[in-house]
Amino acid sequence: MKKKWVVLAVLPSIALFLLFFCFNLLLKYPKVSSPLKDPIAIEPLRNTQAQFSLLIGILTRPDSYDRRHFLRLIYGIQSSPIAEIHVKFVFCNLTKDEQRMFIALEILRFSDIIILNCTENMNSGKTYTYFSSLPCILPRRYDYVMKADDDVFLRIAPLAFSLQPLPRKDLYYGFVIPCNSRNPFIEYMSGMGFILSWDLVEWIGDSSIPANDIHGPEDKLVGKWLKMGNKARNRFSNKPAMYDYPGTNGQCSHELIPETVAIHRIKRWDQWLTVLKFFNMTEALQPSNLYHIFD
Ligand SMILES: *[C@@H]1O[C@H](CO)[C@@H](O)[C@H](O)[C@H]1NC(C)=O
Ligand SMILES: *[C@@H]1O[C@H](CO)[C@@H](O)[C@H](O)[C@H]1NC(C)=O
Ligand SMILES: *[C@@H]1O[C@H](CO)[C@@H](O)[C@H](O)[C@H]1NC(C)=O
Repeated sequence: MKKKWVVLAVLPSIALFLLFFCFNLLLKYPKVSSPLKDPIAIEPLRNTQAQFSLLIGILTRPDSYDRRHFLRLIYGIQSSPIAEIHVKFVFCNLTKDEQRMFIALEILRFSDIIILNCTENMNSGKTYTYFSSLPCILPRRYDYVMKADDDVFLRIAPLAFSLQPLPRKDLYYGFVIPCNSRNPFIEYMSGMGFILSWDLVEWIGDSSIPANDIHGPEDKLVGKWLKMGNKARNRFSNKPAMYDYPGTNGQCSHELIPETVAIHRIKRWDQWLTVLKFFNMTEALQPSNLYHIFD
């Protein structure tokens, strides 16, 4: 009986001692807490602010090394705080030994390449293979998937801003054809760059409607599938923010405008130069002793 009382009487002293000891430790080593325990360090701000995700697949050809190099620069210096956006280059099977080497190097360096199980050919199902393969081959889902041409300039921040208020489901977004149309519920979105919500990407892979109808102009086919499947009840044609480069395609073209989301048919370097100058793409460049050529 007595021993028990002694133990009980000593307990508060032990507690006090521990408290004092720990308090001392805290005072002595206030800065040893690992940065890993800092919740801000674990969750980068970029991720907490992103409201949705978008995969941009640029359909191109294995041999277009220079184009990929250039587009990596164009998209590597752009971002949006409101969206998680990944840009990948998409093509069909490699056919040459040199491609297997050079593209393997690109994958090692950039991991931004998707090689589909198809043979390179315009209008014979590459877009179908692209959308229908994605749910199986991607390690994750995205809210939206875009198909874009490699002669298009996309402005990432205005693109994300235009998607922000739109539905995340059953959405078909782009530049409606014909050129002068403002009604996205008739016909289809131009192949320059259109976006489908993830449920529609899955539908393209699952439904027999697209699978049985893959030969023809790819952008037109997508519109036809969605119509036959009674899909894409949410549609958004982003005019005049999307257009063809001035003077290249009749009523689909107009002058460059500040609120641009996409410009299509940029085929020549002088046209790229005009576009990049107009949007001040190098304005973030800081003065440095390392270069003086920009004065
Ligand atoms: C690729 O496509 C070919 C022919 O279309 C088919 O026989 C083969 O099984 C496919 N391979 C894979 C990995 O899907
Ligand atoms: C693409 O390449 C893979 C692997 O070499 C092959 O199995 C497949 O049959 C090819 N697909 C087509 C459509 O040629
Ligand atoms: C580019 O910069 C110029 C000069 O600062 C400005 O007047 C113009 O509005 C900018 N263009 C765009 C598209 O932001």
